[in-house]
Amino acid sequence: MNEEWKIDVSPRLRRLPPYLFGRLNALRHSKRVAGVDIIDLGMGNPADPPPPHVIEKLCEAAGNPRSHGYSASSGIPNLRREVARLYERLYDVRLDPDSEVIAVIGSKEGFSHLCLALLGPGDTVIVGDPYFPIHVYSVALAEANVINVPLGNDEVFLQRVADVVEHLYPRPKCLILNYPHNPTAMTVDGVEFFEAVVDLARRSGIMVIHDFAYGRTCFDGYTAPSFLQAGGAKDVGVEFITMSKPYNMAGWRIGFCVGNAEMIRALATIKGYYDYGIFTPIQVAGILALQTGEEAVAGQAQTYQQRRDVVVAGLRRVGWEVENPRAGMFVWARVPEKHLAGQGTIDFAMRLMTDAEVAIAPGRAFGENGEGYVRIALVENELRLKQAIRQIDRALNKGVKAPSAAKHNS
Ligand SMILES: Cc1ncc(COP(=O)(O)O)c(C=O)c1O
Repeated sequence: MNEEWKIDVSPRLRRLPPYLFGRLNALRHSKRVAGVDIIDLGMGNPADPPPPHVIEKLCEAAGNPRSHGYSASSGIPNLRREVARLYERLYDVRLDPDSEVIAVIGSKEGFSHLCLALLGPGDTVIVGDPYFPIHVYSVALAEANVINVPLGNDEVFLQRVADVVEHLYPRPKCLILNYPHNPTAMTVDGVEFFEAVVDLARRSGIMVIHDFAYGRTCFDGYTAPSFLQAGGAKDVGVEFITMSKPYNMAGWRIGFCVGNAEMIRALATIKGYYDYGIFTPIQVAGILALQTGEEAVAGQAQTYQQRRDVVVAGLRRVGWEVENPRAGMFVWARVPEKHLAGQGTIDFAMRLMTDAEVAIAPGRAFGENGEGYVRIALVENELRLKQAIRQIDRALNKGVKAPSAAKHNS
């Protein structure tokens, strides 16, 4: 082959920031290959099963020879209708299933393609920091620019956003929100915050995209408000929901974008070119889950709440100051200074993986403002979570390495 031949990736790909999980993922992989039992609290990958009757429905629908062709890119009508019913039931929000609801192949796919449909070179998007990485990568892949605004409580954050909107020229095009938030577990109290967002968006002509992935995973009686509950929200923005977290259907790849009809049409246009829709049996089973899954959704939130209690109590016991999250599937914890000892959280996470055999996500991977924190995913059972805290405590406070770490290192 010609020695000159080489792949030259697109400028779009070159714009991606460095992938900060790379070293950690490689270390975890090598540990696993070596037979080490890593307690993996790194990724928010649900480990519990979907409701059994939904799995049965999937199998039944897959048994129909007619359900194996290409599906509808925007989602089959009955599924979109069911999403509209869900919004009416939960949030008292009316949606037109044809123009204001679209099915996506997981909200990650929908979010990325919406950015591609709405943004381009020269456009600017406001994203809070810390952030869920996709919220930044998708904007970069659309060749638009990100302005990171430090997250804070509702009022402070909104004021910071308003300042950017007022002083930046050309004006930002879009504001990305995510409440309950990943990774920080921040929540908003009520719909008033979103009303203020709608007001700001209207005045300044910016679009709003709200990622509501953890809207159904709430604790202690808290109910997360939907962005669409704010009057006029549909005029300025959309909201993403997913079946990955509440129904444990992460691998199935099914979610929805709802709200502003023009934004949905733009997403439908780009998806029409890129995909043929979600496998029909998944959509059929999805309908059943939306119709009958309330108990399972509440049960799963309860499970995360109990795991949260274990992790928060455990970390406090070993000297960490941790806030009690009221939603989501993560505990966001500041690492005590004495443990960091000048290290960044990426190195700290590497150390925990080696010495405690526990994988957690380093806060730095979620933006500059995440430095100093770690994110612990509540994806293992309570016993394993207790074990993880014990191993962390022994490794950090007592200098005792986890059993196989000691064996492998000796
Ligand atoms: C905030 C947030 N949005 C979106 C996603 C992706 O969800 P989906 O499985 O629907 O693509 C996740 C997954 O962790 C998430 O945390």
